[in-house]
Formats: sequence, structure tokens, C-alpha cells
Amino acid sequence: MALLLRTISELRSHLTAHRQGSRGNIGLVPTMGALHQGHLSLIERAIAENGIVVVSIFVNPLQFAPTEDLGDYPRQLEQDLKFCREIGVDLVFAPEPKELNSTGDTQALNGTTSVIPPQSMTEILCGKYRPGHFTGVATIVSKLFNIIQPDKAYFGQKDAQQLAIIRRLVKDLNIPVEIVPCPIIREVSGLALSSRNQYLSTTEKKQAAEIYRSLQSAQVAFTNGELNTAALVNLVKRQLNSTEEVKIQYVELVDPVSLQAIKQIHQAGLLAIAVHLGSTRLIDNIVLQKRQPIVAIDGPAGAGKSTVTRRLAQELGLLYLDTGAMYRAVTWLVMESRIAIDEEKAIANLLTDLDLKLTSPDSAELPTVVHINNQEVTNAIRTPEVTANVSAIAAQAAVRAKLVSMQQQWGEQGGLIAEGRDIGTNVFPNAELKIFLTATAAERARRRMQDLKDQGRDDIDVKQLEQDIKSRDEQDSQRAIAPLKQADDAIELITDNLSIEEVIEKISKLYNQIIEG
Ligand code: PAF
Repeated sequence: MALLLRTISELRSHLTAHRQGSRGNIGLVPTMGALHQGHLSLIERAIAENGIVVVSIFVNPLQFAPTEDLGDYPRQLEQDLKFCREIGVDLVFAPEPKELNSTGDTQALNGTTSVIPPQSMTEILCGKYRPGHFTGVATIVSKLFNIIQPDKAYFGQKDAQQLAIIRRLVKDLNIPVEIVPCPIIREVSGLALSSRNQYLSTTEKKQAAEIYRSLQSAQVAFTNGELNTAALVNLVKRQLNSTEEVKIQYVELVDPVSLQAIKQIHQAGLLAIAVHLGSTRLIDNIVLQKRQPIVAIDGPAGAGKSTVTRRLAQELGLLYLDTGAMYRAVTWLVMESRIAIDEEKAIANLLTDLDLKLTSPDSAELPTVVHINNQEVTNAIRTPEVTANVSAIAAQAAVRAKLVSMQQQWGEQGGLIAEGRDIGTNVFPNAELKIFLTATAAERARRRMQDLKDQGRDDIDVKQLEQDIKSRDEQDSQRAIAPLKQADDAIELITDNLSIEEVIEKISKLYNQIIEG
């Protein structure tokens, strides 16, 4: 795996063979090497979404000014290759500069045709201090797109100006590639990962954590209603200035798409920072945006939560956060790894590098598409063996903590709907709309009996069913982890005399009231 290719012709012949075999999309992750966990997240996503993945490694001389660190920029091809092999990259394209110069006879790319992005996007933020940088980026990225012709290309949100310029580039030049933005990956301290962090001393790394803290303060002020650019920018500057070693180059708030200055946030604002710490230049940013609401549906078993949630997700255009599928996926992984269900420690270890992806299916009737550690398990997680073990796994504190934190991370963007027994009380206590969907035990017993009858069973004692349901409710509300509880601000919906359509209509109405403010 991870074949190293040095020339365009070698690369093209591999890609042609791939296309002829119709083995799925081509994904590209363009990099300058010195790969770290930030790149890893781009590459893993590319692997999950494509049939073949090319990682390009090229320290592009065109994007460095003569005064910048081109000579010193970390180069570690052997280590990068090992990294790519371990995560399952197919092809690593690492050309020499002369390979990318059509005349082939110089070491650098000087004199090549340039791709010049709109001045309005390059004369601000980093572009103001790095003249020519984004022309260098746009030129090399266009060359990579032409050489590789990827279906999708992955870029980190950390270089937000680069991302906006490349999105504009593919639009303006009609390049048929989907640009996939990937979230910033941070150290525990909040410091955004970057190849240039290698230049920082331990003390500087601690000081650098102030950058993200200042962005977080702005996020808090914004969440509390501060929309004014000057106020937000000043807040960040004041906080950065409290660490003497951090020298601000700029703090700006701009429109995330056009990159033009804004006086106030209407829908979204890109708050971007560049500072110097010793001789190292660091950048970071955050997008402040009014998020789409989160809808949290809690309630006892058998009240119809999952059907209603699925249908609402389709109807309201929200992501269905299928928490049940997440617990099933972990259960499947534990069983697949041959770890006993009660080995909590080993299970916790198994989850340290967990990579879990949920994708909405094409219709509400189909199950959520699930990938765990890059393997599609949509059907494998729905076997009777998994069903038999999922409750025991879901009751483990480490499993719960890990999955709840993943759910909350997804929730940061808003725009999702989730159901469970503790979604509104524990996972999303700030959800904009909380519904407690319930029905009397007698009604739930009646529905269950109907289901069983439809499956050909007519030996059911409805009174016994009702009794079982009552004792399950009792157990669920007593359990130590994630007990069933109605949040104070949840709207109770008793569905005894309502059809599914009526329930959906009621919740849609409540949702639309929130959207319309
Ligand atoms: O973000 C980077 O690493 C570079 O700017 C890129 C996109 C690989 C172009 O050289």
C-alpha cells in the first residue's frame, strides 16, 4: 500500500487503470508533507469517501516569498510515507520541482503560467503580509487538479483563506472537483495542529494556546449576542496582548465566502488571527455562525421515537444522528475484535482511535449508513448477535463518554435531530427544541401487540405486555447512566390518539416557529 510515485506519467497510468476498472471516486489530499494528525483527519475522510486516495507531497516554492522558510520547511518523506502506509493511502505523489515545470530544466517553478485569484481575496488577511502566496497556491493546486483530476479534494479549515480562494478558483475555472472542507484539529491545549508547530519550544507551545482561548472568548461573546466586528476583534486583541510573547500580525472578521470585511455578523463571520511567537508565524480561526437548531427527542421505549425522528430528519432536512447505530457499531467492533463484552478496560482502549461516520440514507425507510474504522457496517451492525449485546455495551461509562462527546462535537454545527433516553437532558442540554415523546403503557402495549400479530404471533397477553413495559420504564428511569428523565424545558407529546403523520406535523410546526424566530 501507499505506492510512492515521482512522475506525472507513472501517476497517470495508475489513475487510468483505476478509472478503467471503475473502482470508484478519486480523492486527493494535497499537502506539503511533514504530515501530522491534522492531515490524518483529511486523509481518513478521503479514504472513507473514495475508491482510491492520492496524497500529494510537494513543498511548493511558488508560495514562499524569498524572505520565508522555504529552505527550512520540514521535509521528511520517509516518515510521511510510513504514515501514509499505516493509514492505508493508495498513492503518494511526491514530484521533484522539475517534474512540475513544463520546461523540465530548472529546479524551481519560476516562469510558469500563473493562476491569479481575485485581488479582493488576496490583498487581505494573510495575503496582505504574504504577497504572491495565494497565486503560488492557486497555481500549484490547479496543476494538481489537472494532473490528477480528482472527484473530491480535501482542505483543512485552518487555512480558511486558502480554502475560500480554492473554492472560488474551481467555480471560476469550472474545474469539476468537489472541495471538501475539514475541521481544524487541535491539541488538548487548543493549539491548532500545523507542520510549523515543530518550530515551537515547549514554553512557546503553552503561550500559543492563548490564540485559541481568545477565539473561544469571542465565541462566547457571540453566543451571548455580540455581533459587532469591532467589539469582537478588540476582545480577541486584548486577550492576545495579555501574553507578552504573542505578537499580533492581524485579527480580522470577514465574510467566510467572499473574505470581504464586515461591520457586523449577519449569518456568519470568519474570525481569523495571525501572530508571531518568537520567529514562528501561527494562524488560526473560527467561524462564528448562527447555527441551525438541534432537535432532541427523548421518551420511553416503544413511543415511536425512532420512526418519528427518521421521518422528521427527511422532512426538515436535518441530519439524523442515529445514536442507536453508534452503540451498535461499537458493539460490532468489540465482537469483531474478539473482546469479551465485560472487559471494560480493553473496550475503552479499543475506542481511543475510534473513527465513526454516519451518513444519511437516501430515504427514511433505509437504515443510516455507518462506517467504523473505514469499514462499512450498515447491515453488519443489525444482526441478532449485535442486538443481544448492545445494551451491555451502552451501559459502560467509557463507551457512553466517548460516544456522547462525539455526538456533542457533531452537534456544534447544529442542524441535526437525535433521539434517545437522555438526548435532551444529557447530550444536548442546549437543544433549541426538546420533545418528550410518550404514550401510556396501555397504548404502547397495544401497538406492540399489533406488531407481533403482524409477524404472525397471536398468543400474546396484552396485560403482560403492559406490565413488562411499566417495569422497563421503571428500570430505565432508575439506571445510573443516562436515566430516562423529562427535561424541564421539554415539550411533552402524548401520542395515544395521534397518527405518525399528526405527530410529525406537530413537531414540524414547533420547529418552524423556532426557525422563524
Ligand atoms: O495547505 C497546504 O499544505 C498547501 O498550501 C497546498 C494546498 C498543499 C498547496 O501547496
